[in-house]
Amino acid sequence: MTTRSAMRDTAIEILRENDRGTYTVPTKGLYPFQWNWDSCFTALGQSHYDLDRAWTEIETLFAAQWDDGMVPHMVFHEAAPGYFPGPDVWGTNRAGRPTSGITQLPVAGFAVRELWKRSAQRPDRDARARALLVKLDRWHDWFYRTRDPKRTGLVAVIHPWESRDNTIDWDVGLERVPTEGVMPYVRNDTKHADPETRPTKAQYDRYLWLVQHFRSLGWNSTQTHDASPFQIVDPGFNAILIRSARDTAALAEALGEQAIASRNAQWAASGLDALETLWDEGAGQYQPYDRIGKELLDSPSIGGLIPVFAPIPASRASTLRETLLVISQHVRFLVPSHDPRDGRFDIKRYWRGPVWLVCNYLIADGLRQAGDHDLADRISADSMGLIEAGGFSEYYDPLTGAPLGGGRFSWTAAMVLEFTAQAT
Ligand code: SER
Repeated sequence: MTTRSAMRDTAIEILRENDRGTYTVPTKGLYPFQWNWDSCFTALGQSHYDLDRAWTEIETLFAAQWDDGMVPHMVFHEAAPGYFPGPDVWGTNRAGRPTSGITQLPVAGFAVRELWKRSAQRPDRDARARALLVKLDRWHDWFYRTRDPKRTGLVAVIHPWESRDNTIDWDVGLERVPTEGVMPYVRNDTKHADPETRPTKAQYDRYLWLVQHFRSLGWNSTQTHDASPFQIVDPGFNAILIRSARDTAALAEALGEQAIASRNAQWAASGLDALETLWDEGAGQYQPYDRIGKELLDSPSIGGLIPVFAPIPASRASTLRETLLVISQHVRFLVPSHDPRDGRFDIKRYWRGPVWLVCNYLIADGLRQAGDHDLADRISADSMGLIEAGGFSEYYDPLTGAPLGGGRFSWTAAMVLEFTAQAT
């Protein structure tokens, strides 16, 4: 039995090992650069032993913000010829450094407010928060301008890598993505992790087609949404954006930035209203919406449970609780990334079944906000059980707890520091 304090020590050791000074790699080898949402979770972990370093993590990410407001999903701080697709494939040249050309789940608004709350003793906290606030506001504005051109209140992802790479939620949308003209390529991810736990070649071909397509449009965000054959409204992604907009509004309010506060509060409010259109009473959860096919999809994934992280109505939160309890009867460890009762559930394959600690964290946080401490505690305990069973891995088998994907993983380590701090 590993003690909590030994787990914390190992978590800090892993975060230090993956620390490159001003940013942290998710894990050595498989992911050798800075990833957007990874860094935000990592900063939460770092805040438990080095608050200054935690702020720097997010400041480094936002230093790569594009002129149009987008914050890219990857920042290529150094050469890593062993990674595919690297900077030469993306071909962007916007932020004074090579980055990818797509974005990622906007956890930053939530994370920055958390850092600010935890920095009460730091004389620099308001200045650092204020600098990031302006950038958060520009990023959120970019989302609602370019990813919701018809002003529905909800944004679409236009590339699978913007959210949960190979989730079943994308299957219908990806069928529309062609593969003709895809560059010849060699994958590196399958050299670092078991191919059975990674996306398939058919999916990778489509990921690459979309990259080439957006690149041919000069990564112009006023065109890429409408020009994409892949436009999915992911409830989890939107819930995270809503929560981040709400937290940005609260932080702006505290710092006397009224214009930023009211804009972000408005985005959060209209997003929350629109989230209702994704509710599926029969499934007991939210569902993804295919904006091209104009239909609510039947894909009961974790993307439809994460909305508890946003301030959804109490009746929705309580139905999500019931759904989670049913799911818990089919797995040993909550929360699998797809409903195990669905025939498409794939227990080891990345986002099609395995458990991810960051999602557990978002769901547990949301349940606590909704007053459901019992289930939040259960999810927290399952998360720690996974660390005991399989170490600090990228994701886990929900039945056996076996570690999957990359090892000594930053965001998993960060979440252990968060869960153990909440328990004390
Ligand atoms: N998650 C993707 C990868 O495997 C890209 O963000 O590299």
